[in-house]
Amino acid sequence: MSKQSVRDLAVAGKKVLVRVDFNVPQTPDGGVADDRRIRAALPTLRSILDRGGSLILVSHLGRPTGDPAADAPFRLDAVAARLQELIGRPVVKAGDTVGPEARAACAQLQPGGIVILENVRFNKGEKTGDPEFARRLAGLADCYVNDAFGTCHRDEASMVAVPQQFPPDRRAIGVLVEKELMILDTLLRYPKHAYVAVMGGAKVSDKITVIENLIKKVDRLLIGGAMTYTFLQAQGIAIGRSKVEADKLDVARSLLDLAGEKLVLPADHLVASAPEAGAATQVVGRAEIPEDGFGMDIGPATCAEYGAIIKQAGTVVWNGPMGKFEVEAFAHGTRAIAEAMAASSAVTAVGGGESAEAIEKFGLADRVTHVSTGGGAFLEALEGKSFNSLAVIPDRS
Ligand code: 3PG
Repeated sequence: MSKQSVRDLAVAGKKVLVRVDFNVPQTPDGGVADDRRIRAALPTLRSILDRGGSLILVSHLGRPTGDPAADAPFRLDAVAARLQELIGRPVVKAGDTVGPEARAACAQLQPGGIVILENVRFNKGEKTGDPEFARRLAGLADCYVNDAFGTCHRDEASMVAVPQQFPPDRRAIGVLVEKELMILDTLLRYPKHAYVAVMGGAKVSDKITVIENLIKKVDRLLIGGAMTYTFLQAQGIAIGRSKVEADKLDVARSLLDLAGEKLVLPADHLVASAPEAGAATQVVGRAEIPEDGFGMDIGPATCAEYGAIIKQAGTVVWNGPMGKFEVEAFAHGTRAIAEAMAASSAVTAVGGGESAEAIEKFGLADRVTHVSTGGGAFLEALEGKSFNSLAVIPDRS
């Protein structure tokens, strides 16, 4: 059953509170380092404006602590300016979220107008889900749209208590959330086989529940990144000075048992003399990491093997880099996965902050089926969790 969509709402002449996730990476001077999340919200925003509605945008940025001086970099001014450039209409930025500035700006809002409220996490009531705060925020608007997929795993006021303030027929999900839910439906319920998951990143501990849930569904689980070395050590294979989660060896062993032959570990590794740019490197076999070597990436044989498996797949989901891809010398494996996914005719989905960043960096984001805007939310969805923020949005009648 699909959720009520922004397209189902009668928005003409209405003020629509859209919860967006403009929690973007920032430059050192507080600018927007990557505007992907802002661009991804544009279809929803345009759909409302084009039908004569107006927008009250609500987002968080960062994790403010409550100290105004320390929190100043988390004000939404640079985000508002970037949105104005991208959407090509004036964006009024309020200096507060539910205070006098926000109320005045929202009261003056005309069809086609846009107000963005100050960082919703500057209010204590956001974190605690305070109903009084939710009532004040909801009181600014006529209807509510959740287009903040990246925040859907949070139970904060603007995600759960605020939509509950609106009658059910005035709550909806936006186009971005709709797209994310469609791809998750494919990944969790209707994958085309062969179904391949590629899991990388530093820690096995971050991926335990995802692996436990996905292993029942996939045909192959390809492992890369530093978590490789925890799995190898769990099998009694020497890993030199590679990163390892020494307290997770038992967990790694039980995942290996659970996954059996579906789980594929790298056949070779790129090993460096130090975990940094400029270090001497060599390619070694699976169980040949030298005592003083640091495993930094999957090796060329693994790139070829994983590439061939991806080529024959019907569905591929990728989360987590294959090596320390910020350093060019250790980026080959991550690039090889990105290229294999781009060349594949399978349904290809990339999720999790770092793999999304990698596929963007390699210029291949347009060549996969879907790049998720979610980090934690995408992973928790793959774990099989359901979200309160979506439960409060009614199904389409
Ligand atoms: C994210 O970037 O994952 C979301 O915006 C949620 O942010 P949070 O982890 O600070 O809740």
